[in-house]
Amino acid sequence: MRRLIAVLLILMISQACAAVSLAEADEIENYTRYTDYVPRAADPVGLIPGTNNRTLVAWFSRVGNTVFYPDVDVVSTASLQIDADGKLTGNAQMIAGWIAEATGADVFPIQTAWTYPSDYDQTVAVGEGQDIDQVELKLATYPEDLSDYNSVWLVVPIWHYTICTPLRMFLESTDLSGKTVYVVTTHRGSGFADVPERVQEMEPGAQVIAALSVPGNDAPKHRDEVLDYVKNNMK
Ligand SMILES: Cc1cc2nc3c(=O)[nH]c(=O)nc-3n(C[C@H](O)[C@H](O)[C@H](O)COP(=O)(O)O)c2cc1C
Repeated sequence: MRRLIAVLLILMISQACAAVSLAEADEIENYTRYTDYVPRAADPVGLIPGTNNRTLVAWFSRVGNTVFYPDVDVVSTASLQIDADGKLTGNAQMIAGWIAEATGADVFPIQTAWTYPSDYDQTVAVGEGQDIDQVELKLATYPEDLSDYNSVWLVVPIWHYTICTPLRMFLESTDLSGKTVYVVTTHRGSGFADVPERVQEMEPGAQVIAALSVPGNDAPKHRDEVLDYVKNNMK
């Protein structure tokens, strides 16, 4: 019933702005079937070129995939940080930025076609539901050609004790055979969980390295550790 109400609400609001196709309504339902909120279509960013086009950093964060309430509580919301410029930043986003700084890598922000709830607990409900049901999500953009990259860094927030669904969708859409894949997780206690093993299962032709797991609640304190790891361990 909640699911039906959510879809009807979305359809009514969307009708006022623009017609939502049936295919889009199906995609929206991949988010709204777990809790009531109104997702918005993503604003795709796409690949950001660096100076080293043999290395790629791909990451997913709530930031960049959520339309936050203006008064969102950063302090009690473990997944959010404020960066040096005063901008809202995700933990994975921050860690990916350090890796890009150390390597000059191209950066690919993974974005889902539709946004997640501003409310943290609702996002947990949606994220866990998507994992349990192994939902297939559409991404807002897909990387065009990864063949030139030797190394790929994946910065993965742990959701529901495993790889978050958007990262799973990214890996299902790519073939990283022949590349070295560095797995970096960010979490609230689960460490690496089973992410390196799941990445290896999805990318059997890649050499997968469990590189770093960074606690999200104090991510900014781990900058030097991340930069040192990249400097001392990257092949
Ligand atoms: C939907 C959801 C589920 C989560 N599940 C877990 C979990 O099972 N284990 C854990 O340690 N942290 C979990 N977390 C915490 C995040 O992994 C952590 O806050 C991470 O640093 C978020 O990164 P981000 O700011 O880049 O999105 C979860 C967070 C969300 C939003």
